[in-house]
Amino acid sequence: MLQMPLRKLDQLTPQPTELDRFEVASTAELRAWQFEQLKWSLRHAYENVPHYRAKFDAAGIRPDDLKSLDDLARFPFTTKADLRDNYPFGMFAVSEKDVARIHASSGTTGKPTVVGYTRRDLDTWSDVVARSIRAAGGRAGMKLHNAYGYGLFTGGLGAHAGAERLGCTVIPVSGGMTERQVQLINDFKPDIIMVTPSYMLAILDEFRKQGLDPRKSSLRVGIFGAEPWTNAMREEIEEAFDIHAVDIYGLSEVIGPGVASECVETKDGLHIWEDHFYPEVIDPFTGKVLPDGEEGELVFTSLTKEAMPIIRYRTRDLTRLLPGTARNMRRMEKVTGRSDDMIILRGVNVFPTQIEEKLLIIPELSMHYQIVLTRSGRMDEMEVHVEARPEFSDPDARKAAAHRLESAIKDTIGISSRVVIRDADSIERSAGKARRILDRRPQG
Ligand code: DLL
Repeated sequence: MLQMPLRKLDQLTPQPTELDRFEVASTAELRAWQFEQLKWSLRHAYENVPHYRAKFDAAGIRPDDLKSLDDLARFPFTTKADLRDNYPFGMFAVSEKDVARIHASSGTTGKPTVVGYTRRDLDTWSDVVARSIRAAGGRAGMKLHNAYGYGLFTGGLGAHAGAERLGCTVIPVSGGMTERQVQLINDFKPDIIMVTPSYMLAILDEFRKQGLDPRKSSLRVGIFGAEPWTNAMREEIEEAFDIHAVDIYGLSEVIGPGVASECVETKDGLHIWEDHFYPEVIDPFTGKVLPDGEEGELVFTSLTKEAMPIIRYRTRDLTRLLPGTARNMRRMEKVTGRSDDMIILRGVNVFPTQIEEKLLIIPELSMHYQIVLTRSGRMDEMEVHVEARPEFSDPDARKAAAHRLESAIKDTIGISSRVVIRDADSIERSAGKARRILDRRPQG
């Protein structure tokens, strides 16, 4: 039986008086603000970024054609390729001397994607991350262990600035050196940790390796993001550490972490900070805007960003929009996966998160897993490599667990796979985003 987290919610849930203006504004007020800002953002992009001007002109549309929020659907999309083609600074809408910070994400192929911020953008970013940490239960005076990577990745510095803005005591650990992560958690006694969920599992293993009880750590809240993770993973982490685990979402092209975040009192999906980022969900094949509630690809338009306005950016993340709960602003459901992480196996679409959801129901299996794709003849094969929990070394128990997982995958996803049970600590760990898919099929 899973035990419920012992940590109380009452001190973690913010009072309405602590919230920002748009966290308590009515929907009508929010929509009116979004419409005005959207007009500004489209004009700003059109007038200052040649790429946008050319694209809008080619589509025969002008910023002044926006007569309602729905008219946004008439404007062209922006993709990662557009950012690459304009490498390094072609998407900037301000002069280089007004750019206060540059971040970049290393792509798998070729040039990195570059993003820029004015001082005001950095301020906005700190505000939305501070808001996210507060929604998760953070308050001024709490200690926050930040294990997102510092550097060109937006996770480390983004979380750092937001935590400082909220008034937390920040411990800027960055990723890696897992032994030291555990030592610092024990010695400095933080209330909050910010880290990728997969790396939190590596920290958990290290606690156990050192003979420490993770439930006795000082941590009360974990704010996890930068990669897809499931409610099964949430249960695993909450139970192991006796903390509240909440989801934070973001992407560098839009700003970084803090585009959307879960509230600790509901944990029912991520409230999008819609006063700065306007969401749409589209059919990824036709590009048509879908009504709220339908699953598709998430698209964002920035409403306030100066250095690099972004218009209808296709995130490749799959989710759906839901009405507000703990806040008025709309929620996005936990991201199922990225369209580029979707495996199409013998005609069936599979996401790593679908496999992850199944792991928790099999006690012998840990949540460290990787999907290996191979080809035998013309047939694509999927192997799921998953580590046994260290206490399960009996070969028969492992074999039975492998069969259970294979059946669960077959019954619910509808595909045959081979489950390979590996020893504890044998699957690669990443101090940042986990690599869930190893594609060993012959290319071309
Ligand atoms: O990962 C920003 C971030 C840092 C978010 C720390 C949260 C915490 P990028 O490196 O540009 O930025 O990667 C963005 O990561 O399009 C999603 O595919 C994925 N992603 C980010 N957060 C989540 C999440 C940062 N909570 C890409 N759930 C996005 C699922 C996420 N996927």
